[in-house]
Amino acid sequence: MNIPIKIAGIGFNVPKTVITNDDLSKILDTSDEWIKTRTGIEKRHVLSGNETAVQMGIEAGKKALLKSGINPKEIDYIIAAASFGTHIYPSTACEIQAAIGADNAACFDITAACSGLIYGLGIARAFIKSGTAKNILIVATDAVSRCVDWTDRTTSVLFGDGAGAVMLTVSDDDQDDILAVELKADGKYGNFIQMATPGKNCPIVEQNEEKNTFVKMNGKEVYKYVVTKLPTYIEECVEKSGLKLSEIDYLVPHQANLRIIEALEQRLDFDADHVISNIQEYANTSAASIPIAITEAIQSGKIKTPCSAILTGFGAGMTVGTAVVRLREGIA
Ligand code: ACO
Repeated sequence: MNIPIKIAGIGFNVPKTVITNDDLSKILDTSDEWIKTRTGIEKRHVLSGNETAVQMGIEAGKKALLKSGINPKEIDYIIAAASFGTHIYPSTACEIQAAIGADNAACFDITAACSGLIYGLGIARAFIKSGTAKNILIVATDAVSRCVDWTDRTTSVLFGDGAGAVMLTVSDDDQDDILAVELKADGKYGNFIQMATPGKNCPIVEQNEEKNTFVKMNGKEVYKYVVTKLPTYIEECVEKSGLKLSEIDYLVPHQANLRIIEALEQRLDFDADHVISNIQEYANTSAASIPIAITEAIQSGKIKTPCSAILTGFGAGMTVGTAVVRLREGIA
């Protein structure tokens, strides 16, 4: 039996503190002109003081839940896509569970970097379609501002913090909102984007090398990888969805670089008006960038619901994920 899935609510949350490119040019050898021209980024929201990725995730999750009308006690799973929560354990998903009172949910985190939201959609879809779960909350929340070396201009200027959430349930009509999900990984390119874990050996054995635990990225290789591989991966997913590319209303790509977004727009022959981009305001918020972009675009009227959309993300791993979805009225 095919169980249709409904995207019942979405939401996002970003920190209030905003840093502009000009602010960064005071602490780094960079400029607004360089950052804007190479990436499209104008500013980013960052955590300050004791604010955490978990708090952002809780707020985004509550918004998605409220829109869905689902009682937190009815949530079967919380899946958090979080590369830098407050703790390695308890998981970010468990911390969100406690805060929203989802007492009956099983909870776990996934690590797929910027593809995390789409990986979460793929896993949740499989749980619902198999009859294992009915209601699943996916929360993508990342605090990349705490993982970058703020003396390294080649990475630090690219990122911001934020959270986005999607509440899935079984459809009460026959419409399936998740038409296809295609997940890929290319572990052989793992050295393109890396963040090492800290940790020292037991003092009575030979010591291990001290590692740099900041985000390290070979931006040029990531760029080449994405523009070469992503369009074909997207086309494969669209083919599985049963729709034609020309029938899909919007493209919502991961917000990593405006030049990558424009390259996708051209290669897939989308109108600029139908390609969602808010990198100017938020920079790269990792796994949160897609749900932030969708929610904000629906709320501002740039995405007109009901509609269909391609969501596509890529990130460390290398991981890539694409979903073809339907977005109903009233979800944001
Ligand atoms: N300000 C000023 N100059 C800079 C800066 C900066 N912030 N950063 C680098 N430069 C300099 C470099 O030192 C270099 O100088 P040189 O020519 O004297 O050596 C010059 O600018 C050009 O640097 P490139 O790295 O060649 O610049 P490029 O045009 O490739 O742009 C960028 C770099 C923006 C990172 C681009 O490669 C990119 O966006 N790549 C994709 C990144 C991406 O999508 N990442 C996803 C990560 S998501 C995740 O999973 C965490």
